[in-house]
Amino acid sequence: MQERIMLDKRLKQVVDYIPKGSILADIGSDHAYVPCYAVQQGLIARGIAGEVNVGPMEAAQAQVDLIGARDVIDVRLGDGLAVLKKDEATCISICGMGGSLIRSILESGKDKLGAVERLVLQPNVDGQYVREWLLENGYRLVEESIVKENDKVYEILVGEKGEEDVYSADENERNWQLLFGPFLLQSRPEPFKLKWSREAAKLDYVLGQMAEGVQSEALVRKQTEFKRYRDKMREVSQ
Ligand SMILES: C[S@@+](CC[C@H](N)C(=O)[O-])C[C@H]1O[C@@H](n2cnc3c(N)ncnc32)[C@H](O)[C@@H]1O
Repeated sequence: MQERIMLDKRLKQVVDYIPKGSILADIGSDHAYVPCYAVQQGLIARGIAGEVNVGPMEAAQAQVDLIGARDVIDVRLGDGLAVLKKDEATCISICGMGGSLIRSILESGKDKLGAVERLVLQPNVDGQYVREWLLENGYRLVEESIVKENDKVYEILVGEKGEEDVYSADENERNWQLLFGPFLLQSRPEPFKLKWSREAAKLDYVLGQMAEGVQSEALVRKQTEFKRYRDKMREVSQ
């Protein structure tokens, strides 16, 4: 009997954003839960589980074999989008990594995005790098969500090819939108408030340390900048 895969809240939210009938490439797939679950739900036509490390690649292959999906999910070893053929995937998910790594995977694999209708990206930290990449590369941020699981908070960002219209023309406002997420900044759900109150507390701690140092001009400038961020983080987490 095929093992039914159960997803945690974070990956369930990711799967909910995958369009039906997609050819899904899940990059950094590790255990391949996302493509395996999507196949079991009849959501995707085909899947590719990409992994740069042998251990996780073997875990992915074992999971695919366990659910008897070898004919629909290809497990491939390689760096980022290099595992894909040109115009192969219609949806790409990249989850559970830092925002700067997700951005660099997208940047180095631009030539593989030709047929991609949707990017589902789940940065563990530094989501602003992912939003910036989308904005600078002709992708519209179409949805954002944030979930809390085991006391951790995760953002999930969805991009589609097209002209961006969600960001403010005002540079200062746009920078805050890139940091907090334009949709999340509007709706401010509880996990969002928790995330940013924690970030404000971290900055507060750093500011406390800085206050004990020699007050050079550069340090004072940094403190002013950090206070501005901390105050904004506190404001949005009210
Ligand atoms: C923390 S795990 C996340 C696994 C899964 N995506 C999830 O969200 O639960 C990150 C995975 O990304 C893989 N990885 C890191 N850099 C990668 C790259 N450049 N290309 C492909 N996989 C990568 C790692 O080997 C690791 O298995």
